[in-house]
Amino acid sequence: MAEVLRKKPGAEAIDVAIGDMRTTRVDGKFKLVYLVWNSIMNVTNQDGQVEVFANAAAHLDEGGYFVVEVAVHKQDRTPAGDLGQVFVMDDDHVGIDTFDDPVLQLMSSHHWTEINGHLHRDTGRFRYVWPSELDLMARLASMRLVNRWGGWQEEVFTAESESQVAVYQK
Ligand SMILES: C[S@@+](CC[C@H](N)C(=O)[O-])C[C@H]1O[C@@H](n2cnc3c(N)ncnc32)[C@H](O)[C@@H]1O
Repeated sequence: MAEVLRKKPGAEAIDVAIGDMRTTRVDGKFKLVYLVWNSIMNVTNQDGQVEVFANAAAHLDEGGYFVVEVAVHKQDRTPAGDLGQVFVMDDDHVGIDTFDDPVLQLMSSHHWTEINGHLHRDTGRFRYVWPSELDLMARLASMRLVNRWGGWQEEVFTAESESQVAVYQK
């Protein structure tokens, strides 16, 4: 990703640090930290996710914002007897989520993708996180929820929302 970024016009103006989002620090304080595209779920235990919030807060000015975009999973809507939920079924890509451990909130996303006529299998392990749990992680890091939308167009967040854009302020 860093290499792709470096090829874009104006990239030289952006400093890149490659590291663990739980612990990596960069110099300076910022008005905005953002963590999008479900990336909080890549940290697969609660302690680690709490660390990510603390690390984000450590980089913020007082009054600065931490924006988190993350899916809201409906694991309880998997019908009894079904192994998982199909979330995409295109000609060249099938994706299935399995909810593997409800105690540790662990799930896997399984992808079968056709590339150059060959079928590739790829599975990622994630920790899903409740909206209210995100809010408590923010509080532990001296931040408060100021907005929760159902998407980037400021859609209303409802029980049916499949994703959220949560905005926390330090
Ligand atoms: C869903 S992708 C999002 C990529 C990118 N942030 C974007 O929005 O396009 C999550 C990324 O987080 C990376 N990742 C997983 N655990 C991490 C960690 N502890 N610290 C930093 N990055 C991590 C993964 O390798 C993956 O590239």
